[in-house]
Amino acid sequence: MAQTEAGPLLCVVGARPNFMKMAPLLKAFRTHPELPKAVLVHTGQHYDFALNDQLFVDLELPSPDVNLEVGSGTHAAQTAEIMRRFEPVVIDRKPSCVIVVGDVNSTLACSLVAAKLQVPVAHVEAGLRSYDRSMPEEINRVLTDRISDLLYTTERNAEANLAKEGIDGHQVQFVGNLMIDSLLAALPKAVAVSDLLRREGRELGLNGSHGHAAVTLHRPSNVDDAEALSNVLTILADVADRLPVIWPVHPRTRAKIAEFGYEGRLENPRIVCLPPQGYLEMIGLMRDASVVLTDSGGIQEETTALGIPCLTMRPNTERPITVDQGTNLVVGSDRRRVLTALDETLRTGGKRGRVPEFWDGMAAQRIADHLAKWLATRTTGKPLQ
Ligand code: UD1
Repeated sequence: MAQTEAGPLLCVVGARPNFMKMAPLLKAFRTHPELPKAVLVHTGQHYDFALNDQLFVDLELPSPDVNLEVGSGTHAAQTAEIMRRFEPVVIDRKPSCVIVVGDVNSTLACSLVAAKLQVPVAHVEAGLRSYDRSMPEEINRVLTDRISDLLYTTERNAEANLAKEGIDGHQVQFVGNLMIDSLLAALPKAVAVSDLLRREGRELGLNGSHGHAAVTLHRPSNVDDAEALSNVLTILADVADRLPVIWPVHPRTRAKIAEFGYEGRLENPRIVCLPPQGYLEMIGLMRDASVVLTDSGGIQEETTALGIPCLTMRPNTERPITVDQGTNLVVGSDRRRVLTALDETLRTGGKRGRVPEFWDGMAAQRIADHLAKWLATRTTGKPLQ
């Protein structure tokens, strides 16, 4: 396809964790004097009000210019449908660059379409590796990085991961973490847990802040299998024996609880199950917690930035800096191991950490500045400084 240099930047989002990354980036793109117009494309991978619309409001993300409305499906069906619907958009808009973030199916699908049409791809949050190919996100990360032209990283060891895969260091730029740009911008507006519980009509007898465990769980490895989910619910009951639990339940997890007939196990006055929460509520839930138990990627980073102890219920993490420098402990899903770590956390106040380099609210600006120079170089042929 013929490439016109003044074509827009096509900025892709699809699922919840993409929105926190794209919000500050789109703002930086749209206010940068040297960048072409930024067009927001939503694949529609997430479409529920709580997973989607509410976050657009909380993050002050403008409505998408294009919505592909793909919805749910198996991995192959969803990825293929995104590709099928994104291809004509790229052909029609002739972008200077397609910008994808994170590791969801939308990230891979759209980068693949762009690469085949020979449109440059910039991948934000490149180079993270769990080295666990049973995670769908790991496949998405490896493949997206392989076909991207620009790889923006959040932590320095990502570059080493990319080097091992033969990716040229010149394509890689350490810029910091967009999640933290969003977090720092939204923190003053975070909703206090007491207000959230009142609004939901729930009562936990919490006195002020730092009295609860905040929980999020949605990884297939924890929730898709009956035995694995049963184990997780047993652990949560044990956690609730120690401190109240507040758990916004992801639709995937909710569906599995119903499928396996586990609803009765949630009838515990010390476990408050909520629908998926907005961004400002989620930040409040983490900020006011004694401890967070999660299998999310982003929450490992947000708790490190907030200085709140995090127990990651996965066998590994693609975000090792949250363990090396932050407040994160990877504890897996073994009941004894989780409870030992929890008891230690409650006894000592938990692992202390520091905020990693460039997790400072300026990542979006760094990307915008770098991308502007990179695009100018492509136009003028002058080397990048
Ligand atoms: C996706 C991402 C995951 C990310 C998570 C955050 C992939 C492979 N996974 O997982 O990396 O951490 O988003 O939420 O891209 N559903 C709804 N409403 C929606 C969307 C989904 O009810 O708006 C239900 C559907 O039953 C669907 C299931 O959730 O089948 C799973 O959705 P899907 O987008 O496939 O993956 P997530 O588990 O949300």
